[in-house]
Amino acid sequence: MLVSPSLLAADFGNLDREIDMLNQSNADLIHLDVMDGVFVPNISFGFPVIEAISKRATKPLDVHLMIVHPENYIGRLRDVGATIMNVHQEACIHLDRTIHAIKDAGMKAAVTLNPSTPVMMLEDVITELDMVLLMSVNPGFGGQKFINNAIEKTRRLKELIARTGSKAQIEIDGGVNDVTGRSLAHAGADILVAGSYIFNSQDPSATIDLLKSL
Ligand code: DX5
Ligand code: ZN
Repeated sequence: MLVSPSLLAADFGNLDREIDMLNQSNADLIHLDVMDGVFVPNISFGFPVIEAISKRATKPLDVHLMIVHPENYIGRLRDVGATIMNVHQEACIHLDRTIHAIKDAGMKAAVTLNPSTPVMMLEDVITELDMVLLMSVNPGFGGQKFINNAIEKTRRLKELIARTGSKAQIEIDGGVNDVTGRSLAHAGADILVAGSYIFNSQDPSATIDLLKSL
């Protein structure tokens, strides 16, 4: 299992220390949640913060854009150091065009689905994707309760990927802990995002190892 700790639950007054901890841990990626107050009812951080994180982090940045018109920021996101660009299906009218623009810019292309968006919405682009991010909470806030239909949805996505020969990895975000993470592992998840479960634990590095062992 790969693990992508969500920095949203970190101590923003001590970002260098938190990033150093992740650098020294067995985390595979660092998940960054960008919120615009329009697509989701919350605002987090933007390019200057991502750039500062990128300068210090030694792990690839997995950037989850909870914003409208993510296609307007592809070049800038690449320039501040993103490796994976996650755009919401619900935010993209011309999703196919956006996926290709992300790849042309040299990043990995990932599409995120809200809990209410069915997996079949990706049927016609799945072979173009490097990753699909399934939301297991309604996006906008850390620390929410896991929505159980994400387990069944992970299975359905796994089937779609197998049927089409897609190479997309399956990442799940929201309410992930040891219990929900184990069910997701059985259902076929490749990458777990976790914020509060990791950063609110006594030993975040050990919690990352525990999730990786699922
Ligand atoms: C929610 C974000 C998540 C969030 C997860 O909108 O996309 O990445 O940080 O937080 P936890 O793991 O606490 O549910
Ligand atoms: Zn996220």
